Amino acid sequence: IGAFLGTGDADRGEYPHYMLKEIYEQPETLANAMRGRLEADNATAHFGGLNLSAQQLRQVDRVIMTACGTSYHAAMVGEYLLEELARVPVEVEYASEFRYRNPPLDRSSVVLALTQSGETADTLAALRESKRMGHTTLAICNAVGSSIAREADGGVYLHAGPEIGVASTKAFTSQVCVLTMLALYLGRTRHLSSTQGQRIIDDLHALPETVRKTLACHDHVKRVAEKYAHAKNVLYLGRQYLYPVALEGALKLKEISYIHAEGYPAAEMKHGPIALVDESTPSVFLVPRGNVFDKVMSNMQEIKARGGPVIAVAGAGDREVAALADDVIPIPDVPEYLQPIVTAIPLQLLAYEIALLCGCDVDKPRNLAKSVTVE
Ligand code: G6P
Repeated sequence: IGAFLGTGDADRGEYPHYMLKEIYEQPETLANAMRGRLEADNATAHFGGLNLSAQQLRQVDRVIMTACGTSYHAAMVGEYLLEELARVPVEVEYASEFRYRNPPLDRSSVVLALTQSGETADTLAALRESKRMGHTTLAICNAVGSSIAREADGGVYLHAGPEIGVASTKAFTSQVCVLTMLALYLGRTRHLSSTQGQRIIDDLHALPETVRKTLACHDHVKRVAEKYAHAKNVLYLGRQYLYPVALEGALKLKEISYIHAEGYPAAEMKHGPIALVDESTPSVFLVPRGNVFDKVMSNMQEIKARGGPVIAVAGAGDREVAALADDVIPIPDVPEYLQPIVTAIPLQLLAYEIALLCGCDVDKPRNLAKSVTVE
């Protein structure tokens, strides 16, 4: 970071780009998202602005999450979190689709909008349509006092501070963090035991420090970026909690480097996308240890067998992965439900470094706006 010193803009501090500053802020922004919300005594979380009693929340039978772009990927992680930790059925809808779909929803469905800016036109319209139908609406939002924050019946702020880089980074990890706490809260009104709740709280308390350690992968990421910056296509593959992160990694690369990238659930490769694999098409595999580790390893083998270079984001010191992958980006070990946050970070850095090597304007990518306030 010392090397960045002396580059003008006070807001950016010593960082050459807002995006890099925002990536490096994540230990802090995650701590801010959790501040005052974890309740050790009851092994749960609480939120000042949900405006729903525990009793009302207990009656929620289904959560519909709606969002656009990166926020949509956070919502997809939320689906896995709420289903696993709280056993609440979740559906995730693109706001632009949901607003015109008129899906049959029962009374006990809550509509949860996710948005960094709170001003995305499609997300706002989806929220208004849900309200009109008489549903309780909630929002997870960063921008305080924004339209969506004002119009939702209740919600949770990220407290991540302004996000200036067009490619969303810190807002994504904060959204996932808030969703984890929400899953803990809902879980504790249902089947999660206080021991399980306490374990989640302990894991969450350790998260900012874990993310700080994760950022140490930056040097590895730079080397990987140099090796693959010339690629025309990149595949991002993960399973379960890490499937949405694969989508998000691919989106980051597309947004700021203009390199074509696709995210897939790793096992879907064989149903088509594997036809794209050759020596010049690298695959980024998200393969930390967990339930599906062996399965992802065999997906990795399938790519290797077809001559595709493999970059693995994996636990530091995982020899099995190192023996198979061409390059490894090491990350700390965390429980599976926190892996989306930890694995997102090297993918943000990878997109950033590749975009720099391609000479792109990282903070203001072509054709994109930070907040899309028109339809
Ligand atoms: C735009 C931005 C994306 C963002 C999306 C949703 O497309 O370029 O980075 O993810 O809008 O924005 P929101 O503010 O609703 O999260």
